[in-house]
Amino acid sequence: MTQDRLTLKRPDDWHLHLRDGAMMEGVLPHSAEHFARAIIMPNLVPPVVTGNDAAAYRDRILAARPEGSAFEPLMTLYLTEATDPEDVRAAAASGLVKAVKLYPAGATTNSASGVRDFDKVRGVLEVMAEIGLPLCVHGEVTRPEIDIFDREAVFIDEVLDPLRRATPGLRVVMEHITTAEAAAYAAAGDETLAATITVQHLMLDRNDMLVGGIRPHFYCLPILKRGSHRPKLVEAATSGNPRFFLGTDSAPHATDTKENACGCAGCFTAPVAMACLAQVFDEAGALDKLEGFTSRFGPAFYGLPENEDEITLVKGAALEIPDAVETGAGPVTVFNPGRPVQWRVA
Ligand code: NCD
Ligand code: ZN
Repeated sequence: MTQDRLTLKRPDDWHLHLRDGAMMEGVLPHSAEHFARAIIMPNLVPPVVTGNDAAAYRDRILAARPEGSAFEPLMTLYLTEATDPEDVRAAAASGLVKAVKLYPAGATTNSASGVRDFDKVRGVLEVMAEIGLPLCVHGEVTRPEIDIFDREAVFIDEVLDPLRRATPGLRVVMEHITTAEAAAYAAAGDETLAATITVQHLMLDRNDMLVGGIRPHFYCLPILKRGSHRPKLVEAATSGNPRFFLGTDSAPHATDTKENACGCAGCFTAPVAMACLAQVFDEAGALDKLEGFTSRFGPAFYGLPENEDEITLVKGAALEIPDAVETGAGPVTVFNPGRPVQWRVA
């Protein structure tokens, strides 16, 4: 018998870009509708660097929530070479900050303040290992001679593995993994290691982005990879291994900045993420593994309780995906995988 209904503990999103101001006000309801909590990325301009920055940003997010919403933003700090270890310690101790984000300088959107010299952040990483505060890692090298499709795999060997060995006990989230190499590295890790996976990397590969015309709304970083990687990511996500959980990396950009001669990186998946994931897990014959991926393994890694309420997904006629969400910062095109999604949130 085929299953056409699925009830899950309410999911959380362990990697989300909400932006600020009018853009945030426009996109926030689309995460708050399905997700109870989200790890909020700090790559604003200027970035969220100190505990005070995070407290102020959190207040702005709370003020922008739709009426009646209990959506909880889990704040992060953007690691710079000038980050003060004691500020991190205090922001974590107060419960405000749940992770620190490492962007290699120049890796992606708004990452200019990121880390170039890892020796300069050693003190912060040691405090984080001591207090158990996770480091969320954008795992790509940025050296210009490294091909964009190889940047994640090279990062694991050249940066991530040495960093973990040099800082025993440091809890690390490999964010938005895109390769077989990353999935294998995460699966082989101990309980200090986890990896998040996005909707677009579970559904698409680089052919979807580049064959028959270039599709800017599939352009994100880390970039979609060769088709052989996608099944490895689906395998990891549907494996029931608690090391792998959802981080959508929903990253809104106004449509005209993506449909552009130099288009921005980021897929706005928040409105359709849960429907798309149900489709992926259904196709993999693994609907029974969806709740772990979206609702249980993330809280376990972060040491937070699971959500108490539930959401229900139903299968039926193909989901009608709107072209765009209107925001005060312009329309934002909604991720559409280009094939039918038969699931939706009831
Ligand atoms: C993100 C953004 O737009 O902020 N873009 C993306 O393609 N994922 C940055 C990031 O997470 O790399
Ligand atoms: Zn991101």
